[in-house]
Amino acid sequence: MVVTPWEVKGDVDYDRLVKEFGTEKIDSALLKRIEKHTGEIHFMLRRNIFFSHRDMNWLLNEYEKGSKFFLYTGRAPSGPVHLGHLIPWVFAKWIQDKFGAEMWFQFPDEEKFLLKDNLSLEDTAKYTRENMLDVIALGFDPKKTHFLIDTKHAGIMYKEAVRIAKHITFSTIKASFGFTDSTNIGAIFYTAMQATPAILPSAMKKKNIPCLIPLGIDQDVHFRVARDVYPKLGYYKPAILHSKFMAGLKEGGKMSASDPMSAIYTTDTPAEAKKKINNAFSGGRDTVEEHRKLGGNPDIDVPFQYLRMLLEPDDKKLKKIYDDYKSGKMLSGEMKQICIEKLNTFLAAHQKKREEAKKLLDRFIFKE
Ligand code: TYM
Repeated sequence: MVVTPWEVKGDVDYDRLVKEFGTEKIDSALLKRIEKHTGEIHFMLRRNIFFSHRDMNWLLNEYEKGSKFFLYTGRAPSGPVHLGHLIPWVFAKWIQDKFGAEMWFQFPDEEKFLLKDNLSLEDTAKYTRENMLDVIALGFDPKKTHFLIDTKHAGIMYKEAVRIAKHITFSTIKASFGFTDSTNIGAIFYTAMQATPAILPSAMKKKNIPCLIPLGIDQDVHFRVARDVYPKLGYYKPAILHSKFMAGLKEGGKMSASDPMSAIYTTDTPAEAKKKINNAFSGGRDTVEEHRKLGGNPDIDVPFQYLRMLLEPDDKKLKKIYDDYKSGKMLSGEMKQICIEKLNTFLAAHQKKREEAKKLLDRFIFKE
């Protein structure tokens, strides 16, 4: 298996990641602690989609002492947003609502420009605007949500970024990201830019404010590198909640923006979405007779995974689909039909809010 910010390949062993990255699993005691403040447990926590964390107990200790935290997450604009990206953001919006937390959302428009051969800064500027609409469409509070665009907000970010960068060596970055001597120096510096928003509100307000970062676990490495640096600058280490990956449409691997055949985009038409789900990898048997007799495998069925991770928050309904598929009562075509209906309802609502977001865009972009 490979899990880096630029590539996720093979069968991801999440237990192994917890060990290798040195994180902690989210256990029932932590869930109870969160529930005490939220009154309910989000389905992504109940279903172990958010499965791992750093320093959540510290964050809740601070919160219980009256020290509010802010949220931070991001999107490196490199193409349209797909359903997988929505996982950490839908969850972050829930945290914002439940804790009344401010959200700092970074759009590092230089990241994929530096790391890919085929993207210009003009391309990433276009995708920044497009991707911002998707984030706004999820319902973040405009009064509490601030978008940082690296090339636009470099003036306020750069001081903190160089302070961080001074404590990170080239050899650490090489070892953490697999870079070589021929990697461009922008890519080598980039981690300092991604690490900056976790302390920027504290730096601006000149007081330490706890930070919580919900992200897909592929992004953990940037913060693994930066965590040791924050206290050296007098700041808290951020708490982190890690999510698993939404599967791609084909067998194995994550939904990835760099592989259009793997992804359902938030801007797909109903016909495109239908076609993609109908061609998605299924956990069904080769023949109807076999399927009826032996049952299907919902655990590897991609349409079922989309229901579980995003589209069907109702546990009872989800369990019935799971059981019916596993027993052979439900066929793959029926599973796909349920997923297509849910998906197209979701996309229609999202696309409407995305249109409305065009009017709100300016309110979300951070102004000094
Ligand atoms: P990016 O743009 O690749 O992805 C944005 C967020 O989506 C998550 N993600 C997924 N989650 C579940 N299933 C998937 N298939 C899937 N694909 C992507 C990513 O983990 C990420 O959380 N460098 C970052 C941008 C960034 C950032 C941050 C991310 C800047 N600051 C702070 C997290 C926290 C990036 O390239 O993400």
